[in-house]
Amino acid sequence: TVHERVDTFHDNDQKPVGYGRMLRKEDPRFLRGRGRYVDDVQLPGMLHLAILRSPVAHARIVSIDTSAAEASPGVKAVVTGAALAAQNLAWMPTLSNDVQAVLATDKVRFQGQEVAFVVAEDRYAARDALELIDVEYDVLDPVIDARRALEPDAPVIRDDLDGKTNNHCFDWETGDEAATEAVFARADVVVSQDLVYPRVHPAPMETCGAVADYDAVDGKLRLWSTTQAPHAHRTLYAIVAGLPEHKIQVIAPDIGGGFGNKVPIYPGYVCAIVASIVTGKPVKWMEDRSENLISTGFARDYIMRGEIAATRDGRILGIRTNVLADHGAFNGTAAPVKYPAGFFGVFTGSYDIEAAYCKMTAVFTNKAPGGVAYACSFRITEAVYLVERIVDCLADELGMDPAELRLKNFIQPEQFPYTTKTGWVYDSGNYEPTMRLAMEMAGYDELRREQAEKRARGELMGIGIAFFTEAVGAGPRKDMDILGLGMADGCELRVHPTGKAVVRLSVQSQGQGHETTFAQIVAEEIGIPPADIEVLHGDTDNTPFGLGTYGSRSTPVSGAAAALVARKVRDKARIIASGMLEVSVADLEWEKGAFHVAGDPGRSVTIQDIAMRAHGAGDLPEGIEGGLEAQICYNPSNLTYPHGAYICVVDIDPGTAQVKVRRFIAVDDCGTRINPMIIEGQVHGGLTDGVGMALMEMIAFDEDGNCLGASLMDYLIPTSLEVPDWETGFTVTPSPHHPIGAKGVGESATVGSPPAIVNAVIDALKPFGVRHADMPLTPSRVWDAMRGQARPP
Ligand code: CDP
Repeated sequence: TVHERVDTFHDNDQKPVGYGRMLRKEDPRFLRGRGRYVDDVQLPGMLHLAILRSPVAHARIVSIDTSAAEASPGVKAVVTGAALAAQNLAWMPTLSNDVQAVLATDKVRFQGQEVAFVVAEDRYAARDALELIDVEYDVLDPVIDARRALEPDAPVIRDDLDGKTNNHCFDWETGDEAATEAVFARADVVVSQDLVYPRVHPAPMETCGAVADYDAVDGKLRLWSTTQAPHAHRTLYAIVAGLPEHKIQVIAPDIGGGFGNKVPIYPGYVCAIVASIVTGKPVKWMEDRSENLISTGFARDYIMRGEIAATRDGRILGIRTNVLADHGAFNGTAAPVKYPAGFFGVFTGSYDIEAAYCKMTAVFTNKAPGGVAYACSFRITEAVYLVERIVDCLADELGMDPAELRLKNFIQPEQFPYTTKTGWVYDSGNYEPTMRLAMEMAGYDELRREQAEKRARGELMGIGIAFFTEAVGAGPRKDMDILGLGMADGCELRVHPTGKAVVRLSVQSQGQGHETTFAQIVAEEIGIPPADIEVLHGDTDNTPFGLGTYGSRSTPVSGAAAALVARKVRDKARIIASGMLEVSVADLEWEKGAFHVAGDPGRSVTIQDIAMRAHGAGDLPEGIEGGLEAQICYNPSNLTYPHGAYICVVDIDPGTAQVKVRRFIAVDDCGTRINPMIIEGQVHGGLTDGVGMALMEMIAFDEDGNCLGASLMDYLIPTSLEVPDWETGFTVTPSPHHPIGAKGVGESATVGSPPAIVNAVIDALKPFGVRHADMPLTPSRVWDAMRGQARPP
């Protein structure tokens, strides 16, 4: 267990080192405004596309008149669903094997759904012409509440699906129902709690958009788009549009935040492609903030009942849950095919229990499609929230300290690899030191004393704990795929004659610092300074195939690929070095950056010398053709399972019910740490997200299905004013199967922080007898919770 406080940075340019703090290589371009985003792409003769969206949540389309729009100045084309249908392009597959309308033909099924598009000479002309399209809607009753969707008389939303007579999307279960029933029957204590994880939105700073450029002469389509998964998108475009895959180039330039929002293929991307094919010109589509919030992939929307069974002395026996999942109008969830509920199966958390069971029903509603994993690995945020809230409810019931209850039930270090009762194999973990470190950093006992004093004075102070285990790095090809594409990643490394290198990745950075950390991984393995290693990604013509960045999978999958490809290059370099030093391969020793003759460090060649030799004139050892490069595809044998202990301290103003997060202690364990500075940045961002979800964020709808979170005036996201100075620490439990022992970290904080904050608020409200209140814990909700119960004595 280490608790780092040292702030030493590597000398960015010189040292041939790998892991450690290092300023980001991408900073100069981002800090000087030289990032190149999709909306920065300007092509000669480029046209602009704007989308007409449905003003209502559920309606039959009676007619669409586009004549006035077509006559509007600067307009080049107006396209409706009927026109797309004629080309068999009106519908496209979603990432969950459902179909979604590119442009509505029969009905609109959510407010904001794409109905028609205009292509014009500039953005203004395109937007103005939208106003001139006359659509007659026959408005139908909308289904907004997932519970209503299940009622027998609820309007059927998906009547486009053959024989569909209800709003049922899928059923899913995991665990052992009978075994769980049995432990619940013999438990001393059973606690159950209803919980809602509201609909929230990833809300990346950059909205979604694309520039499509189809060249009819050579049949090549170039598509700059805001995607987290360029290779997977290319394959899907090939399938949807029937274009030959080798003629499609998807380019994801700098991406201004993804958080899961840029995983799905949106109708806008497809419309831009169609528009470029139709007009023969490059076409740009860039949505505005409201379009992003009302129509692109939302997250969560789970109505959960959690039940926990335990002995009177606090041994947890079983966990059971029943979930109603709202998937919106089309099932646009991005999750491996075998996992319709994502990785929700890890809801047993970090505890060694006897039995578990989950039953889930998913429904369609008249709300935007999605169910993307917003900064979490496929629904793990929901799972962690469930288990960490009900463990706190149990602590309350037992009158036990929540830290003590968790410590008593942790999976023990010697139990790893640990197979959970729902079948997940946690690779490694050592939970108690992580928990103890968080408690020590927080001064836990002192905080409880302070709380007791404040309570006696009528002040509302709460301390909340969450301990999480995540499952990241999807995933083993045998179990995990997205629409049939196995979730493995390619990586290619070329060392040039002068000893500078280029590493090509299939993952796509959205601001996580991949250009730095992947250079560090390669540097650690072959001793070329990170500054001499260029990281290329986000262009399908120039990078190997792989499934992209989401679910914190980059480091677990592509990070492993980068380490292994570098080792492959090093193996080849060793053979060349043996020729140069005229000794056998076995007589060489590697010291980061150079091989020397064993026992004679003076006789050595650097990796740069070897690179020149590999490309130079003269003989090379037998079997070596020259060049210094390699390519691999890495198929992980398991996910990696990072963990963390979070402690939150809140104060609540008894007069206004305003919650203030006073302190937040986050101890993360992501195995081997490549760049601690970047890790801290990831954690700070995720914790800030957590404050948003716990206290502020919710995409709400009125009863007609109007989205009430359609702007950042209504959908509140946190700023520096709402968050404390984060206190971070770490432990290191390497992953046994990852070549460098690293686990993912990008989403840990988003996963772990909401339950810590909610647990703190509920703890503060204990004097009112409050046991639970649903997120977001806005002042009005906290006020209601306080008033719904007896006033404190
Ligand atoms: O897939 P994504 O990049 O979003 O998540 P990640 O793999 O958890 O990585 C987020 C960032 O943290 C990347 O720049 C990683 O290389 C870095 N990281 C690290 O330095 N050490 C780790 N053990 C894990 C991630």
